[in-house]
Amino acid sequence: MSFKGKRVLITGSTRGIGKAAARAFLERGARVAVNGRGAGDVAATMAELAGDDLVAAPGDVATAEACHAVVDAAIAGLGGLDILVNNAGVYDSGPIEGVSEETYDWMMGVNVKGCFFCAQAAIPQLRANKGAIVMTASESGLSGNRNSALYCTGKGAVVNMTRAMAHDLAPDVRVNAVCPGAVMTDMLGGDDPEYLAEVARFSPMRRIAEASEIGEAICFLADPGQRFMTGALLQVDGGATACR
Ligand SMILES: NC(=O)c1ccc[n+]([C@@H]2O[C@H](COP(=O)([O-])OP(=O)(O)OC[C@H]3O[C@@H](n4cnc5c(N)ncnc54)[C@H](O)[C@@H]3O)[C@@H](O)[C@H]2O)c1
Repeated sequence: MSFKGKRVLITGSTRGIGKAAARAFLERGARVAVNGRGAGDVAATMAELAGDDLVAAPGDVATAEACHAVVDAAIAGLGGLDILVNNAGVYDSGPIEGVSEETYDWMMGVNVKGCFFCAQAAIPQLRANKGAIVMTASESGLSGNRNSALYCTGKGAVVNMTRAMAHDLAPDVRVNAVCPGAVMTDMLGGDDPEYLAEVARFSPMRRIAEASEIGEAICFLADPGQRFMTGALLQVDGGATACR
């Protein structure tokens, strides 16, 4: 895979899967716009990734206005856009009865609205450049996980958003989603060995993925060589959804 000359915006790339995806694109010659809620986090990530192929596109992707501003900053900094990775996401768990409207709006805002409106803002550039969108969905968008109804609701929406956008944007723009299982990032929520062992048992591979393994899958879906692949959901979950 080569991304030489390609311009990529990755939402939520200040840590975890997004940062790993940024590394994977940079290694293959892309220029990358880094996004996170705060300018400070974005600057620190850019300093860590280092190089001339990075631009800053900070902003909270939970509102349509901010999504457009983030995409506009990426386009201005990169001189255009070929690939959008809708990766920013937040997680909370608990019984349905305990979910407040505020929590609902926050999670759906980042996890669903952010994907929709970043895509909307990027469409003119992506159509003109025959580009691609990759969504970071989740195995939680393919099945119902215990105590995670709100997260599953959002990721299920991202899964079907992927299919519908693939339909509407073809043949100019390919739209695909990666559906990770448990990944070793801050989102996983703790490093207690007993908890991690329990999470690892969900997959036949009996381990938790590294963020870099999901970053590679994101590159694969974005690769212009995959020119007939659109509307696809790529499970990178160690077999968890295939082998219950
Ligand atoms: N870690 C897992 O086990 C796992 C599994 C399946 C799917 N995912 C999905 O992968 C994606 C990345 O998660 P991660 O595991 O790297 O988590 P993480 O918490 O390590 O990183 C999340 C990233 O999103 C950014 N972000 C959060 N809210 C934002 C907002 N309002 N605006 C802009 N950026 C915001 C954060 O700054 C950070 O860069 C998410 O969509 C998540 O739902 C994670």
